[in-house]
Amino acid sequence: MRVLVSGASGFIGSHIAEELAGQGHEVVCLVRKTSNVAFLKTLPVERRVGDLSDRRSLAAVVDGCQAVVHSAAQFGASRSQDMVAANDAGTENLVAAVVDRCPDLKQFIQISSLAAAGATSDKSPANEAMEPTPCGVYGHSKRKAELHVLAQQDRFPVTIVRPSITFGPRDLSIYHFFKTLRRHIRPIPGTGRRHYNFFHVKDLVQGVLKMLGNPKAYGELFYLGAAENYSWIKLTDTMLAAIGTRAIPLPIPPLAFSIGGWMGDAVNVFSNSKPVFGRDSARLWLATGWCCDIAKAQEVLGYQPTFDLASGLKDTYQWYLDAGWL
Ligand SMILES: NC(=O)c1ccc[n+]([C@@H]2O[C@H](COP(=O)([O-])OP(=O)(O)OC[C@H]3O[C@@H](n4cnc5c(N)ncnc54)[C@H](OP(=O)(O)O)[C@@H]3O)[C@@H](O)[C@H]2O)c1
Repeated sequence: MRVLVSGASGFIGSHIAEELAGQGHEVVCLVRKTSNVAFLKTLPVERRVGDLSDRRSLAAVVDGCQAVVHSAAQFGASRSQDMVAANDAGTENLVAAVVDRCPDLKQFIQISSLAAAGATSDKSPANEAMEPTPCGVYGHSKRKAELHVLAQQDRFPVTIVRPSITFGPRDLSIYHFFKTLRRHIRPIPGTGRRHYNFFHVKDLVQGVLKMLGNPKAYGELFYLGAAENYSWIKLTDTMLAAIGTRAIPLPIPPLAFSIGGWMGDAVNVFSNSKPVFGRDSARLWLATGWCCDIAKAQEVLGYQPTFDLASGLKDTYQWYLDAGWL
């Protein structure tokens, strides 16, 4: 199948593109003029230049594609207007281009987020039956993206995926935590007892591949993640074990996140560089937790995570070492 992957220059999109190409699909990657395509250079994929915020640029990008895996997005640290432009309006643009140019589209898979569903806890992890209560600008923009896709389900089959917090080779987020832990500093947000669902990107990819062309996934929403939700303490214990070191705990009180968020946003107004932290990221950090239940994906798709936390983090850490990032 000829599959368009948006966000293919990014962490998750590049893994999806790689696996699709490996399985013999014809892969078309949406990249921007400014995208760093290092992860795509050695892959047998076609790159087409466009931008989600420029509707006209997308017509030629989607031409001839039979399925779409829409992974491109702007994250919690981005400026609010960029998140809305890429995630909300950008998805509307991509969907409109597909409606115009791909009358026989076989499936549109939207990579959404736990933030579109809202914060949860280990006592009540998110599941497909819950009403979404999106968190922050990021969460609202990702929920709007879901709704733009769902609005077209009479024209083509759609599948919404809400992956939990994803780590793995090429990921820049957990990379910074590994770097800090190697300096023997262990940041602990709040009490460290909040729970999160973290999983390896290869498990995300195998879940998405199980949905592609699968009628059981048409018109459905799935959570993908690990079978267990973990506390921050457990995550960082496991990261320290992967490194083989110890670190001094550095508790970060909620107020520090709030102040950091305000300061980050203030800096972002005056600077042209890529934002690293802002009020929206602070909201995600201060939420009750990010947990989910993957039972539906397991039952309907036969999805099973292949990495547990320890093996996934070890694999990721080893990749950073091999790639010379650490
Ligand atoms: N990472 C996680 O823990 C996680 C968890 C749940 C859900 N997700 C979702 O997974 C998807 C991928 O996340 P990621 O971690 O791979 O993020 P990432 O590494 O930051 O990649 C984002 C991708 O989106 C592209 N993009 C952003 N704005 C664009 C625009 N206006 N037009 C075209 N492309 C644009 C970027 O292109 P450039 O290279 O040009 O910037 C990049 O390829 C997102 O939808 C995110 O919401 C991520």
